[in-house]
Amino acid sequence: MRILFLGDIVGRTGRDAVIAHLPDLRRTLRLDLVVVNGENASHGFGLSPSIARDLMEAGADVITLGNHSWDRKDLIGYIDQEPRIIRPANYPPGTPGQGSVVVTLVDGRRALVVNVMGRQFMDALDDPFRAATDILSRHRLGVTVQAAVVDIHAEASSEKWAMGHVLDGRVSLVIGTHTHTPTADHRILSGGTAFQTDAGMCGDYDSVIGMAKDAAIARFLRRMPGERLQPAEGEASLAGMMVETDDATGLARRMAPLRVGGKLAPTTPDF
Ligand SMILES: [Fe+2]
Ligand SMILES: [Fe+2]
Repeated sequence: MRILFLGDIVGRTGRDAVIAHLPDLRRTLRLDLVVVNGENASHGFGLSPSIARDLMEAGADVITLGNHSWDRKDLIGYIDQEPRIIRPANYPPGTPGQGSVVVTLVDGRRALVVNVMGRQFMDALDDPFRAATDILSRHRLGVTVQAAVVDIHAEASSEKWAMGHVLDGRVSLVIGTHTHTPTADHRILSGGTAFQTDAGMCGDYDSVIGMAKDAAIARFLRRMPGERLQPAEGEASLAGMMVETDDATGLARRMAPLRVGGKLAPTTPDF
């Protein structure tokens, strides 16, 4: 299965870039499954139902979330009607929505997508390792699902590496989100799971993690509440990771980063 994961989509420039490029990418890279993180798609904070629909129309099969899941209140009622939008699985029981989804591709193959959130330097939540392994205990990679993708939305690289090792051999890809900074450490772990600490963001990199520089910098310079943060509006870079898996095992065969447009050096997978 040919899978593309795109990191946190930030604001209008980020989602415009995704909507502009994704239909072509789906075709030229012969993608079977596209997963995007949408927690910052609505003006940097949350995901509105209409933007979720636009992203899915452009070719996103599943949208994952994170600590900004509930910034848009209109998503709270919508998420239970749209199973292809998932929020971290380790929110407390009773939280709206689901932390995982199985999507069936046009050719009948099935893919599991899971979203969990880290606990280091983030809100207190249930155990993300237990949440992920609980979900995986209900599926068999290569048997009931041909691929499985886990988005670990977390601040600490250590927690993300640990998640990669805990799930190694049990999923196709463990990929980090939330730091909005693509890491160059993508590799296939010893058990066959593709891993990257952070996918990066789809947004304007002439910014502070996607937000306009002045207000974001002012928060560091003067420890006072100031101007509201606004997304930067320059040309976005898409940042993500492509993985090709073996359907019989669900494990990764090869992986390569994707970066298109904006300030980042471009790169396109050559397989
Ligand atoms: Fe984010
Ligand atoms: Fe986040």
